[in-house]
Amino acid sequence: MKLWGGRFTKETDQLVHNFNASIGFDQKFYKQDIEGSVAHVTMLAKQGILTNDERDTIINGLNGIKNDIETGKLEIDGTHEDIHSFVEAHLIERVGDTGKKLHTGRSRNDQVALDMRLYTRDEVLATDELLKKLLVELHKIMKENLDTYMPGFTHLQKAQPVTLAHHFGAYFEMFKRDRSRLSDIYKRMNYSPIGSGALAGTTYPLDRAYTAELLGFDGPTMNSMDSVSDRDYLIEYLAAMSTIMMHLSRFCEEIIIWNSNEYQFVEIDDAYSTGSSIMPQKKNPDIAELVRGKTGRVYGALMSLLTTMKSLPLAYNKDMQEDKELTFDAIDTVKGCISLFTGMISTMEFKKENMNKSARNGFTNATDAADYLVNHGVPFRDAHGIVGQLVLFCIDKNIALDDMTLEEYKAISPVFEEDIYEAISMETCVQKRNTIGAPGQEVMKQVIAANEAYLKEN
Ligand code: ARG
Repeated sequence: MKLWGGRFTKETDQLVHNFNASIGFDQKFYKQDIEGSVAHVTMLAKQGILTNDERDTIINGLNGIKNDIETGKLEIDGTHEDIHSFVEAHLIERVGDTGKKLHTGRSRNDQVALDMRLYTRDEVLATDELLKKLLVELHKIMKENLDTYMPGFTHLQKAQPVTLAHHFGAYFEMFKRDRSRLSDIYKRMNYSPIGSGALAGTTYPLDRAYTAELLGFDGPTMNSMDSVSDRDYLIEYLAAMSTIMMHLSRFCEEIIIWNSNEYQFVEIDDAYSTGSSIMPQKKNPDIAELVRGKTGRVYGALMSLLTTMKSLPLAYNKDMQEDKELTFDAIDTVKGCISLFTGMISTMEFKKENMNKSARNGFTNATDAADYLVNHGVPFRDAHGIVGQLVLFCIDKNIALDDMTLEEYKAISPVFEEDIYEAISMETCVQKRNTIGAPGQEVMKQVIAANEAYLKEN
């Protein structure tokens, strides 16, 4: 059945129907469509546009449809154009002429705008919940690894020693920002477009604020043309999801490197690895690679919707139907990636010995040797040059700064004394770094406490 057949004298071409239809994907929000309709008729009855009996008949019919879809009694098939037509047609079939009053004071344009918002609103919360679980897992690992030393890198070259807690703390901050982005989006999107009609409102005395309240919105949207054609919240959500994926992909890349035969900083659990069909020895980090790979797909969705919306004149245009598949796909992808990633890191083994050994070579304490000289009155630039000579000396002898004798030190600069060894020990290098945000235990414990408070409140 078509909602708009009256003006037409010919049947729609079958290919046109297929091309135009959205029921294949918008059935995903049948629940939201029904929830929106229930609120709409409740408001219509309050305003005296429908009688209470009509309202009850329609609501019972709608709830019956919902129930039958959920129990599998009613199958959503492809004969209807979209989920809105499907629900309305089945309502009329069930309750008769009263059902024909459901669409009073409403258009599919504000209806779909409402459905998509309701659907997305829940997904924003679901995404946030998954990020929270990930943060809880990161927090646990951080707490257990305040003195697990590892090299910190710049340019993927060993730079200075840090701890595993400190390294994971960087990702804790990223995902915390992601959550705050989601909460901003939620606040901005939580306004109800229903009652905007096709584009210009309606002449019925609708109470849009009441419908908004029934549906848990902060209020009605303020311009009917904008209401039916605004997809900003989806673009914002896709941008936030792209950023989440960017963060996950960076983390995955590190885990792939750490899990490599050369590094062996971690071992991904068997349950989160896959094998090779030809090489019996292989255990591959496929999950981390897939999460990294799927990042492109979510960026693609963002670019796609931005491009779809570009230059669209007001108000509703069918182009906007393209918002759905890509958004649904991005949401499913991101949620799956966060869950899998969380499972992967919570089962991963940290090879602390290897991390420690790696942090001990590669001159990660060279800066601290220079700082030692500065503390003994040598200007930093001169100290930098002197330590450069020490490093050259060590490279030549294939030893670490810790292995040089005091005589060898003194031959390069007489300022060095016996306490140089303690000054450049890894424990000193890390634990003396206690400015806020640094890896030292003292300050990291404050950060851990702050994170704990954050997880309790948010
Ligand atoms: N399936 C459509 C969409 O997703 C619903 C709105 C249809 N409105 C219209 N005027 N054709 O955008």
